[in-house]
Amino acid sequence: MNERILELFEQSPETYVSGAEISKRLGVTRTAIWKHIEELRAEGYTFEAAPRKGYRLLGKPAKWQLSELLNGMRTKVLGQKVHIYDEVDSTQTIAHKLVAAGALEGTIVLAEKQTAGRGRMGRSWHSPSGKGIWMSLILTPRIPVYFMPQLTLLSAVALCRAIQKVCHVEIGIKWPNDLLIHGKKVSGILLESSGEDERLKYVIAGIGISVNLLTEDYPEELRAVATSLAIESGIEVSRESLVQAFLLEFEEMYALYLEKGFAPIRLLWEALSVTLKRPIRTTTPTGVIEGFADSLDDSGALTVISPTGERIKIYSGDVEL
Ligand code: BTN
Repeated sequence: MNERILELFEQSPETYVSGAEISKRLGVTRTAIWKHIEELRAEGYTFEAAPRKGYRLLGKPAKWQLSELLNGMRTKVLGQKVHIYDEVDSTQTIAHKLVAAGALEGTIVLAEKQTAGRGRMGRSWHSPSGKGIWMSLILTPRIPVYFMPQLTLLSAVALCRAIQKVCHVEIGIKWPNDLLIHGKKVSGILLESSGEDERLKYVIAGIGISVNLLTEDYPEELRAVATSLAIESGIEVSRESLVQAFLLEFEEMYALYLEKGFAPIRLLWEALSVTLKRPIRTTTPTGVIEGFADSLDDSGALTVISPTGERIKIYSGDVEL
């Protein structure tokens, strides 16, 4: 039925088609039509609904352009091998399987849509079709397992700089690695790893960027807390250009990190942070901590000064500003 509805819209491009007409031509109820339109929206189609006029098809889901992506890639290692899928449960799952099958450092997995996108702290990640960058990057750094948080912060710096360069928006990092524009989350990072004898065997950096989602692409409960680059910049953003920019930034930061350690990355993170030097409230696995976010330590932990002057280190948690 969804295909038949799309055919109808394609027969009358850019014009409104009323619910009554669709209903008559396809022999289904108005409620069923609404349900199918919602399904198509979830697949990445954009419709305008106008009272008394009906629906108008405004846009079709984007598709990853592999040749465009590879042609503009300026990196030496990252993104030299690309796997693209239409629909996956999570690009993280695919990347773990690719590592087991011998995939090399720098390999990336991209999907148009994730049906079970994973977020930090067991949450899910909203990943509708054709609207975002849902990507996993395979890394094999020869560093101890307990340096993982540093890599998380490095990813946030690289992503923040890439978005600034491509979209010219004011963006900041909320500890540890949420990217915010006007206080709303536009991107998240999830690192998953496998280690042996305290050494990392590999890391999968999962990057979610809400690129071209419109307000109606978000479920009601996310609208107050989430935004997209298109909403904030007012223009449709090229996903290919953003992936290229991110991988280049990441490759440069990663080389700097492997050569000089965390210190230079920490300075860059601090300059982009919206968390430091202000009162915050953190929900950690062991409870809620309120205080003044003072600094980042060498391991990537956040140091919070409590109202009684105690210095508390936070290793994982959610910050409210
Ligand atoms: C967060 O909670 O902020 C992290 C979100 C990470 C989402 C990305 S999308 C690509 C990759 N695949 C997943 O299932 N999750 C990450």
